[in-house]
Amino acid sequence: MQDTFGHQISYLRLSITDRCNERCHYCMPEELQTWLPRADLLTYEEILRTVRAGASLGIRKLRVTGGEPLTRRDVIPFITQLKAIPGIEDIGLSTNGTLLADLQRDGRTTAAHLREAGVRTVNISLDTLDPAAYAAVTGRDFLHKVIAGIEACHAAGFEQIKLNCVLMKAAHSDPDALPALLDFAHRQDCLLRFIELMPVTSRELLEDSSFLPTATARRLIEARTGPLIPRPGYKTNGPASYYEVPGRNQLIGFIGAMTNLHFCESCNKLRLTSDGKLRPCLGSHLEFDLRQVLRDGSDDEALKNFFLSVVARKPKEHDFRTTYLPGRHMTAIGG
Ligand code: GTP
Ligand code: 5AD
Ligand code: SF4
Repeated sequence: MQDTFGHQISYLRLSITDRCNERCHYCMPEELQTWLPRADLLTYEEILRTVRAGASLGIRKLRVTGGEPLTRRDVIPFITQLKAIPGIEDIGLSTNGTLLADLQRDGRTTAAHLREAGVRTVNISLDTLDPAAYAAVTGRDFLHKVIAGIEACHAAGFEQIKLNCVLMKAAHSDPDALPALLDFAHRQDCLLRFIELMPVTSRELLEDSSFLPTATARRLIEARTGPLIPRPGYKTNGPASYYEVPGRNQLIGFIGAMTNLHFCESCNKLRLTSDGKLRPCLGSHLEFDLRQVLRDGSDDEALKNFFLSVVARKPKEHDFRTTYLPGRHMTAIGG
């Protein structure tokens, strides 16, 4: 699938629930804490049918997200079924990490079950290593669970574990905060990425008092490490730019959605919200009601045409810097 700007679409992010066991204020502001009614959520069968249609049109990579995807029941058998769809080559999971070390009935961790179901890489949110700051950002005192989750992922043998740190002045202005994360990621052999806050929740979050650009994060790190070495050839499936930490065998990434003017040039993805809207861009209000097509008796051909029509409407770039007004929470979109 190719859009009118030459973007090749091969990556579909699936938000399987808007529910979460944490309350990160950049994702789910207090004034917006209501869940979607169950009947509004796509069933697993509906998501599988959608992915089959997408895969027949060139979707190769899936990412399962939430809310917190591990709060939805039977997520492991669902992923096993995703993996079996012809054409699907890669499945990633984005999670807050708090449930990965939980034991399933057979005494093995959730992480081990996910690996066995076919998840190749796991991306875990980790904004700070300070337990009090962690609780302030996420609304929960769960830092120890995330650290246990990372260890469970190592034991489970994922090909890659990424740590996502959303940059915020309150949590990261202290000159030790980002270097501490850097050292932790190195010790844990995880790929750390710093993400610019996007205005997906309430507008006030983007005020000067909270927004910390990737360029500042880079300076805070370089004050400790010396100049980072660009690695333009290193790519994951997403839009991060990667650098090598001098003198160490460590890569780190920056996701500069707000300040990198070339951010959207290599965009390769579509997003399916948990209530069945197909979104051609995270930072645009455009979304199209796929659930209706799934539920009105349309055949697979109609479903494929729907996909193609959404790809045709994919914008050149996001509107975050211009006209975007926060409307939906990240929990329904899944990042
Ligand atoms: P991989 O590189 O495959 O690991 O995926 P990823 O970086 O897309 O996944 P992840 O869920 O870890 O996302 C990390 C952050 O990057 C989240 O905050 C996403 O919202 C953001 N992000 C990923 N893709 C896009 C995109 O196309 N547009 C925007 N604006 N942000 C994105
Ligand atoms: N801005 C930037 N990143 C965000 N995430 C959630 N909300 C925001 C936001 N407002 C990130 C989390 C998670 C990923 C899927 O999305 O760090 O790791
Ligand atoms: Fe939950 Fe992730 Fe959103 Fe935090 S960023 S509230 S962990 S979905």
